[in-house]
Amino acid sequence: MIAADIIVRNIGQLVNPASDRRARGHEADMLRLERNVCVAACRGKICFVGPEKELGRSCRLQDDARVLDAGGGVVLPGLVDPHTHLPFAGTRQDEFRLKLQGISYQEIAARGGGIKGTVRQTRGISLEDLVALCAQRLDRMLLGGTTTLEAKSGYGLDLETELKQLRALQALAGRHPAAIVPTFMGAHEIPDEFRGRNRAYLDHLLSDVLPRVRDERLAGFVDIFCEEGYFSYAEAEHYLTQAAALGFQTKVHADEFTSNGAAELAARLGAVSAEHLIAIRDEEIAAIAASDTACVLLPGVSFFLRLGRYAPARAILDAGGIVALGTDFNPGSSMISSQFFIFQLAVFQMGLTIEQALNAVTINAAYAIGCEKQAGSLAKGKDMDLLLLDVPDYPYLAYHPGIDPLRTVIKAGKVVVQDRRLVER
Ligand code: NIG
Ligand code: FE
Repeated sequence: MIAADIIVRNIGQLVNPASDRRARGHEADMLRLERNVCVAACRGKICFVGPEKELGRSCRLQDDARVLDAGGGVVLPGLVDPHTHLPFAGTRQDEFRLKLQGISYQEIAARGGGIKGTVRQTRGISLEDLVALCAQRLDRMLLGGTTTLEAKSGYGLDLETELKQLRALQALAGRHPAAIVPTFMGAHEIPDEFRGRNRAYLDHLLSDVLPRVRDERLAGFVDIFCEEGYFSYAEAEHYLTQAAALGFQTKVHADEFTSNGAAELAARLGAVSAEHLIAIRDEEIAAIAASDTACVLLPGVSFFLRLGRYAPARAILDAGGIVALGTDFNPGSSMISSQFFIFQLAVFQMGLTIEQALNAVTINAAYAIGCEKQAGSLAKGKDMDLLLLDVPDYPYLAYHPGIDPLRTVIKAGKVVVQDRRLVER
């Protein structure tokens, strides 16, 4: 019989997504609630969820098992953030002040700021300093309930720096409890060295950089910024097709500011996800909703850039699409690393129900980064990534914005945050 080494007992309300697999369209209207249950795990994997009196049927507690009392409180699975640009150096608050004066993201980029400013800083930082910077950011995310996240390169735009960003993520995987899923995003912007030669830059990535990324197992996903002024539909199609032939799974930054059909492209190429979709057209909604491509919506960008419009989350759900939510944590368009805040924005600004938004930050977010089997819900066989909350019931998480609802965070069966503090590692 399995010997559990940790148990959380006396859970008043265990809140799980609709199912342990992704929820499509209105399947995401539901949550599974269980009252008065416990969750136990052995070596990081959940071995029991249910009423404590039934625990003995499938496992026993080790003598020195860690026992936590939820005090009748609310428990959620650890949040999954399916879209971040974590490994960047420096910040851009000067630019942010310009944005507050009404100068647009695109105008700032045209003046040599934007992504390029962060590229200069990221090229200049050492690997060790980048790792330390990312570790601080991950600590903050863990304190905010994010236990698994995706992280993109794309602030190097040259072989050395792109590899440095991915190596920083690899180093963090051994040092930090948060689980990181790396994505190669060398096609984030056209570096000055290749100005006006987009196709040549993409071919350089395909022939010189991606084989290294693959051989060193630094990332399994490839992403491209398909947007006016960055990479075109035809360039993205060429690049993603070739990247897939090299063995990568694909993602697309699609329809963030303008629509050029990138969401339809993502669906047609079988991309794992299309991300942003603020400017998606109706015919593209139909195409993506009929596919298995996840729609990763990033309301932090609409909020942070004060765009006044959000991705049409409800229309995508009505059409049967798979909706996930992420922070897009980055120094330019979304300096936001809290998934609870994104959940609240989705409820307040996109009109998602609390249930739809919770599915989108848990199981559907896990699906969007290929982690559905390990993360996104609390079920036997999955990782014990669990949040113990200080709220009377789950709707309160949206009802009272701005509070810190988290008391305890467990990642892979280890207590990593207790009484709102990081546990010494
Ligand atoms: O997801 N869209 C491209 N990349 C980021 C912004 C990056 C930046 O401004 O540094 C985004 O919005
Ligand atoms: Fe992004």
